Amino acid sequence: MVIGIIDSGKGGLAVAKKIKSKEDQLIILLDQGFFPYGNKSKEVLLKRAFYLSTYLIEQGAELIVLACNTLSILAYSFLKYNLKVPVIGVFDYFKPYLTSNHTLIGSKTTISYAKENYPVKVIDGTDFIEAIEKKKDVNFYLEELKNLKTDLLLLGCTHFLAISPSSYPIPTLNQIPMLLEDIKKAREISSS
Ligand code: DGL
Repeated sequence: MVIGIIDSGKGGLAVAKKIKSKEDQLIILLDQGFFPYGNKSKEVLLKRAFYLSTYLIEQGAELIVLACNTLSILAYSFLKYNLKVPVIGVFDYFKPYLTSNHTLIGSKTTISYAKENYPVKVIDGTDFIEAIEKKKDVNFYLEELKNLKTDLLLLGCTHFLAISPSSYPIPTLNQIPMLLEDIKKAREISSS
């Protein structure tokens, strides 16, 4: 299956590395000119996501993966009804985990959406995300997490997947296992 992947930068690459398989061909769109997505309006990102997805479909994509939590929150519903191929948005996988004993770290858009709709605690990860994108030292941000009192840290930005899971000083959750399951299902449907 040909899978089109969209993110504002390093998160897309991190997701692509984790879902890479012999069965699929990946087309990875790292929209670095628009980084960060976290400070853009819904209107801007909806248009952008539609434009990029349409481009990927023209290139042969049979499945679009919004490998970005921010874009998933703002554009998934619209794309689901307006594209001619299936779409996966990574944020939805977190929904059962957005509880008061967990903490979500992500872009401003991601954390304000989560805070308005769920009892989860949130941390603004804007500077940490930028440090990853611009290849700056991230030790300061990892150190700060040591003091966090939470059962689980939800990595609500795919950029955080660019860092090895063992570098996080507390237990974390990311959406890759759930994403892999859904890709497997999409592959089965497309080959049947
Ligand atoms: N990888 C994006 C996400 O998962 C980065 C956010 C941004 O570009 O601000 O939300």
